[in-house]
Amino acid sequence: MDPLVVANWKMNGSEQLLQAVVQQVDGLAEATSATVVLALPAAYLSLTKAFDNTQIEWAGQNVHWLTSGAYTGEVSATMLAELGVGWCLVGHSERRQHCAETDDMVLAKTKACLELGIRPIVCVGENLQERQAGKALEVVSRQLLVVLKDIPSALAPLIVVAYEPVWAIGTGEEASPEVAQEVHEALKHAARSEVKALELRVLYGGSVNEDNVKTLMSMPDVDGVLVGGASLEALGFRRICEQVAGSV
Ligand code: PGA
Repeated sequence: MDPLVVANWKMNGSEQLLQAVVQQVDGLAEATSATVVLALPAAYLSLTKAFDNTQIEWAGQNVHWLTSGAYTGEVSATMLAELGVGWCLVGHSERRQHCAETDDMVLAKTKACLELGIRPIVCVGENLQERQAGKALEVVSRQLLVVLKDIPSALAPLIVVAYEPVWAIGTGEEASPEVAQEVHEALKHAARSEVKALELRVLYGGSVNEDNVKTLMSMPDVDGVLVGGASLEALGFRRICEQVAGSV
């Protein structure tokens, strides 16, 4: 499977940064087998039409589960599809925490994406207490299976999972490669218990940077990375992409 690098800008960035990042990473995807996806704030997604001639792919950071209605501030999968957005983050821990997103909402959002051919990047991850209580694998497997149990198995290969331990996000304390490997392996195993022979792609996210990405990518079950803070600096992000591309 080709490695995947997803930048998650969160509520950051500017038109200028978009130009700079595109300039740095355009051509990389063409020259290598890595896929580069930028998950932008909704406000910037309409600007991406100007970059139709690049190999870069685009992701929303959130989506509503309904197609339209009185939901001020929300964005539907139809709108994302209309803009040519091919991917969407679903269930990021910041949304689970600050916007009270539940497993059921994550499932509904995943279904809304799949119906329109948008590839959901389903985020799972345990918090520090859960890890300390030895419950990490149980938590992430539950978060994944809620989704896999309820979608047509033919669509399961479209889903990508991002393992993002909450204690590693924005803290500068990434999971060790061994911890990431253990969880990714467990997620793939859990996925196959639900959808036979599913080759689930699992990304690692949480304090990924240009110094640690290579070791993380060297683990057999780390299929790519989801990069937050370190994706906001164009040259640094390019270096991350280059290392991911070189890992195959
Ligand atoms: P970080 O964020 O790389 O800044 O830790 C990752 C994420 O939340 O997607």
